[in-house]
Amino acid sequence: MAAAPGHPRSGRTAAPHRPRRPREVLRPRRTRRRRPAPPRALVERPVPEPAAGQVVIRVRAVALNFRDLLIARGHYPLPVKPELVPGSDAAGEVVAVGPGVTRFSEGDRVMPAFFETWETGPMRMSDHGSARGGAIDGVLAEYVAVDARALVRIPAHLSFEEAATLPCAGVTAWRALFESAPRHKTGDTVLCLGTGGVSVFAAQLALAAGLEVIMTSSSEKKLDRVRALGVRRTIDYRRDPDWERLVLDATGGDGVDHVVEVGGSGTIARSLAALKIGGTVSLIGALTGVDANIDPIAILAKSARVQGVFVAPRSSLDALSRAMEARELRPVVDRVFAFEAANEALAALAEQKHVGKLVVRVG
Ligand SMILES: NC(=O)c1ccc[n+]([C@@H]2O[C@H](COP(=O)([O-])OP(=O)(O)OC[C@H]3O[C@@H](n4cnc5c(N)ncnc54)[C@H](OP(=O)(O)O)[C@@H]3O)[C@@H](O)[C@H]2O)c1
Repeated sequence: MAAAPGHPRSGRTAAPHRPRRPREVLRPRRTRRRRPAPPRALVERPVPEPAAGQVVIRVRAVALNFRDLLIARGHYPLPVKPELVPGSDAAGEVVAVGPGVTRFSEGDRVMPAFFETWETGPMRMSDHGSARGGAIDGVLAEYVAVDARALVRIPAHLSFEEAATLPCAGVTAWRALFESAPRHKTGDTVLCLGTGGVSVFAAQLALAAGLEVIMTSSSEKKLDRVRALGVRRTIDYRRDPDWERLVLDATGGDGVDHVVEVGGSGTIARSLAALKIGGTVSLIGALTGVDANIDPIAILAKSARVQGVFVAPRSSLDALSRAMEARELRPVVDRVFAFEAANEALAALAEQKHVGKLVVRVG
């Protein structure tokens, strides 16, 4: 049996800066405040020991998601564990391996998948109970113990900060475009709403696959940044609130083949209006709220395929990693914060000045 980090039987010299009792960030109590409450405390706990089938990871980077804000505010609609360690997306290195683990060894650079139990195939109801940083403890910690079946190797060309963005935002965009939907043809058009984590990933992946991308944003400055990634058609939805008309104009009146719908109640009707007949809407998020009145006629008149996407199994993260490595694609990391500044990172996420991802460096 391999020993835990710092264990005298490990045969490895423990790094001198490695604390015996690693710190974790705990979420605040349930709150009705609109602004994110600061995480309640940095706490110290023993370095976990790997149980059978587990590895212990020294976390090096954690990427934040809009969901982390909802959870911190007490507004997340799904069950949240009390005294939660937040954060679903991490990258780090294996420092201890439990009995029965053969695929990973000390020193491997890895990412845990979003769900601890969803390995492949269709999601089961029980998988909901294994969502990191929600139903179970997350990864905003110096060390975490993870089931080895949930692990994926980090693509060689990516840093820890970049890799940490794949397990939720990256793989959600990947699954929506290439696994859940009917196969796209070169030249199909994808509409990405806003310039947050999921949307920027969707734009990058779509462009890499030879698809056309139309991207909206509240800001010309942000649109400059996505144009630099290769997005040729952009719309400022503050300046043009009827942006679905511009999407139709840009597609010769036909509409787009796929909408990566992260807006929710404030955007869903326009997204359906911007859709081509027979197109797909991937329902992923609800940045503007969840109280939408969806017109069934808007769906049936377009013969639209409306699919919910809830992250993905580990096998999808494997597939995304391979695709990113083959094309040497790099995620867009807007800013990196220190572990002690996790509160500031969450506040920055709420301000929505970022393009792509905000990341917390750990250790
Ligand atoms: N179902 C899933 O598996 C899954 C996975 C990941 C995320 N999500 C959900 O997807 C949504 C996006 O997540 P994220 O992590 O990518 O968020 P994020 O990085 O925090 O995205 C924030 C950005 O969204 C854009 N935005 C805000 N309001 C908008 C509006 N009315 N129309 C268009 N864009 C708007 C803004 O960009 P601009 O200023 O450029 O407009 C803002 O900076 C959230 O609701 C999240 O919970 C779901």
